[in-house]
Amino acid sequence: MAHTGDREQWREWVETDNKVLEQQLCARARQTRETWYGKDVYIRGLIEFTNYCRNDCLYCGIRRSNKKAARYRLTEEEILSCCKTGYELGFRTFVLQGGEDLFFTDLDLARIVADIKETYPDCAVTLSVGERSRKSYEMFYAAGADRYLLRHETADEVHYRQLHPKEMSLENRKRCLWDLKEIGFQVGAGMMVGSPGQTVECILEDLEFLRELQPDMVGIGPFIPHCETPFSHKTAGTVNQTLRLLALVRLLLPRVLLPATTALGTVEQDGREKGILAGANVVMPNLSPASVRDKYLLYDGKLCTGSEAAENLSRLEQSMESIGYRVAYGRGDRAGLSHGHKETRKVRTKREEQENGKK
Ligand code: 5AD
Repeated sequence: MAHTGDREQWREWVETDNKVLEQQLCARARQTRETWYGKDVYIRGLIEFTNYCRNDCLYCGIRRSNKKAARYRLTEEEILSCCKTGYELGFRTFVLQGGEDLFFTDLDLARIVADIKETYPDCAVTLSVGERSRKSYEMFYAAGADRYLLRHETADEVHYRQLHPKEMSLENRKRCLWDLKEIGFQVGAGMMVGSPGQTVECILEDLEFLRELQPDMVGIGPFIPHCETPFSHKTAGTVNQTLRLLALVRLLLPRVLLPATTALGTVEQDGREKGILAGANVVMPNLSPASVRDKYLLYDGKLCTGSEAAENLSRLEQSMESIGYRVAYGRGDRAGLSHGHKETRKVRTKREEQENGKK
């Protein structure tokens, strides 16, 4: 972890329960965040457009074998209507997130993205629809998608196996992330904190992987059990460990876009505010139609009302002001990227390294 200290130092920061050290870490992270983003908190309108999923991740409430989940899909018209509501509220970024639902073909998704971009050319569109082929990703990018969120969940091979069914692989997850980056997306990776089987070593692997990938965004939230999953009786991740990791990731990747997640706000009432004070600079209020909001249940107790709800932006504004920050309207690109900038980036991929090695 090169410039920021050695692995042993990181280990201490990851595991410490020393409050003074934790405070120092958060203060440093806050300072770094303010160097690049001042007091601005970026907002994204989250549209959870389908909770059908072909995957069976052991932690997730919308896994395919949860027969009790009430499944839904939004139509293209409904998605566009969410964008309209969001646009009027002041959102200039929409995140289309869903389970891995192949009912939406590549062409469907590309058309939806293109329609949104045509109607709202001043907005950034983020996709978060899981693992697809490189060709699919290229199609989404050509249709106008700017960003892509795909948490790696854990960078440790053995831990990955404990969280996912055998047909999934960390290798393919990483392949997707490198492809997305190479195509030119602003890419988001990330992990849960305190998921079953996670050790300090796993977290150090996560940090190593993030340093290598250099993503534009990192989503970090505590694991929270869901009653209809094999992990129903496991304990949730803690707020403090999540805060330490937010701070560490801010120090590792100073200009990263770092959301204070819904999961963090779910485990503790002022969790998101604490996240902002630990270096986070993004929140993602829920723009899905009210009728489906309580159905996108990744974990028990997931917040979808109060300042979590996009229509209550004034509440979010108040809560950010109460800690000395302000909601910033706009696309909220990563510092250092020019607005609307889209061109194929050359990144060093694992594959390239291997190929060069062979020459
Ligand atoms: N607790 C916390 N986060 C979860 N996610 C899925 N299930 C849970 C859970 N039980 C996260 C995953 C996924 C993101 C959309 O939600 O990290 O990538």
